[in-house]
Amino acid sequence: MTDINQQIILNSRPDGWPAPENFKLIEAKIPKIGDGEILVRNLYMSVDPYMRARMNDAKSYVPPFQIGKVLEAGVVGEVVKSRNSKFKEGDVVVGMLGWENYSKSDGADLLTVERGPVPLSYYLGILGMPGMTAYAGLVDVANLQEGETVFVSAASGAVGSVVGQIAKIMGCEVVGCAGSDDKVDFLINELGFDRAFNYKTCGSIPKKIAELCPKGIDVNFENVGGKIMEAALWNMNDFGRIALCGMISNYNDTDMAPGPRGMGIIIQRRLKIQGFIVFDNPKLNMEFVRKAAVWLEEGKLKYRETVTEGLENAPSAFIGMLKGENFGKQIVKIA
Ligand SMILES: NC(=O)c1ccc[n+]([C@@H]2O[C@H](COP(=O)([O-])OP(=O)(O)OC[C@H]3O[C@@H](n4cnc5c(N)ncnc54)[C@H](OP(=O)(O)O)[C@@H]3O)[C@@H](O)[C@H]2O)c1
Repeated sequence: MTDINQQIILNSRPDGWPAPENFKLIEAKIPKIGDGEILVRNLYMSVDPYMRARMNDAKSYVPPFQIGKVLEAGVVGEVVKSRNSKFKEGDVVVGMLGWENYSKSDGADLLTVERGPVPLSYYLGILGMPGMTAYAGLVDVANLQEGETVFVSAASGAVGSVVGQIAKIMGCEVVGCAGSDDKVDFLINELGFDRAFNYKTCGSIPKKIAELCPKGIDVNFENVGGKIMEAALWNMNDFGRIALCGMISNYNDTDMAPGPRGMGIIIQRRLKIQGFIVFDNPKLNMEFVRKAAVWLEEGKLKYRETVTEGLENAPSAFIGMLKGENFGKQIVKIA
């Protein structure tokens, strides 16, 4: 192994949509480890919508990325050196590490996973944070019940695709929307959604949802916000629940749109809206991973990912994902 560690740092904060110049590829030396530390060779990293918010200098549930510092991501990697008794060389670990070839860690926040029947990248998607988000939002936040109608936006993505499939396993009717006809076809013909539509070409979104959810929506799993969420709101049933997972439609806005509109409906229909973060209930996350491993093996959960090769292409994979160029979970293969 050479002693070069390629890294991607935040070069400047985006103003609106991120651009390649907001990122910079640099070379450093592979870090030396001290007592209690491990060196991880990073194999796959995840690019996720939440990273866009971390590029702003704003208070949130996680601290902002710092200009000039290596960006962080969910990573699957292999331990190549260990001075920590909990890890040995060859172990595969998952956790928050850097956009880089090699990361040093004290291992405190890393999980060891088995090399087994599923590809290691799945631990960043269906068996990782996005899958856990889908389960927590449906089961805990929305308290989904058998026979209910679920509407999910960004339905073909990392979170949305799992939401729809879990809801089907739970005996619900599932309707979703996505941004291309290919994605809609995938939802219906591969993932088993009952109905789906292309929000870019469907005409009136509220009317389309009304047509495809004739019994109304009991649970809206909201990944997008904006006009799609508003359209779902018009179609909610009395005592419906909205699991507010993400608002990707406005992550690149430079000023806050006026609103929210349609708040009266929340009162009239006695709706519950709850925002949540995947790590609010760690016990539930482990419960999901156990169930999902079985569902995957039984073929009840299907999964698709877009894998971009090369650390140097991580910024374009990230920007592309925000634009909807990913089909399923967006991953970057580092090594
Ligand atoms: N609360 C939490 O703990 C948590 C955890 C993970 C993710 N999230 C949120 O969940 C949502 C989905 O995340 P993900 O990781 O699964 O990403 P993803 O769906 O795999 O990728 C993002 C997708 O969003 C869609 N999109 C982008 N801009 C849009 C717009 N203006 N209108 C409609 N759709 C748009 C695109 O698909 P189309 O081609 O369909 O437009 C794109 O492929 C995000 O809002 C994210 O922030 C929240």
